Amino acid sequence: MMLDVSNIQTFYGESQALQRVSLTLDAGETVCLLGRNGAGKSTTLKSIIGLTPPRAGEIRFEGQPIQGWPTHRIARAGIGYVPEDRRIFPGLTVRENLEVASRQRSGAAAHWTVDGILQKYEMLGERADQDGATLSGGQQQMLAVARSLMTQPRLLLLDEPNEGLAPVIVQQIGELIDDLSHTTTILFTDQSVRFALKHARRAYILEKGQVVHEATSEALKADPATQERFLSVA
Ligand SMILES: Nc1ncnc2c1ncn2[C@@H]1O[C@H](COP(=O)(O)OP(=O)(O)O)[C@@H](O)[C@H]1O
Ligand SMILES: [Mg+2]
Repeated sequence: MMLDVSNIQTFYGESQALQRVSLTLDAGETVCLLGRNGAGKSTTLKSIIGLTPPRAGEIRFEGQPIQGWPTHRIARAGIGYVPEDRRIFPGLTVRENLEVASRQRSGAAAHWTVDGILQKYEMLGERADQDGATLSGGQQQMLAVARSLMTQPRLLLLDEPNEGLAPVIVQQIGELIDDLSHTTTILFTDQSVRFALKHARRAYILEKGQVVHEATSEALKADPATQERFLSVA
């Protein structure tokens, strides 16, 4: 098992955002965390990466308990994270955005290199010397994902990679996830079910900070009642 999140409880001040959330990912899986706005998707990813450390529960990554570790240590252990807001470094070119991140990587042999990324993903390669802030929303998302690869993650956390993007770009992000899923274990979040069913093998549905449903994509596809109950169908 690559990731084992067990009964985590996460708070913002006195307000409890996660109520005993548990989920697991096997190595090589692509899994989606579904749920409406405010369900706790971002908080779950932030809890795993240590930005909102859970007050209770346990998180194991490749067998090692990581809860309580600072974010940089969790990242160095092999978990990449792309937040909802993407946070491209303005004033840096596309290449520089990648280079800055690559300096932070661990000593492990590099599968992903700046030049390798710029060659493989033409859209970024063509814009290597352009200020990252001038990219479109979809291009920034591609760059944010590419940048997260610079630390050579074995597990990638993507928070609503489609948010606010046009359908044609959403398709490109889907292709990127499919491509990365050959080499990386991925946990991504989404509010609507269609993209998740297409690109993830399994899904967990969150509501009010709790996992209320867990299913393979095939099972969820055949279960419109659950989709309607817990998700925005788009
Ligand atoms: N920084 C914050 N401070 C206080 N409450 C927050 C904060 N971020 C999120 N919350 C609350 O935690 C709950 C889960 O939010 P979030 O994880 O962002 O949900 P989602 O990503 O599924 O939309 C919501 O009730 C939200 O209002
Ligand atoms: Mg969110």
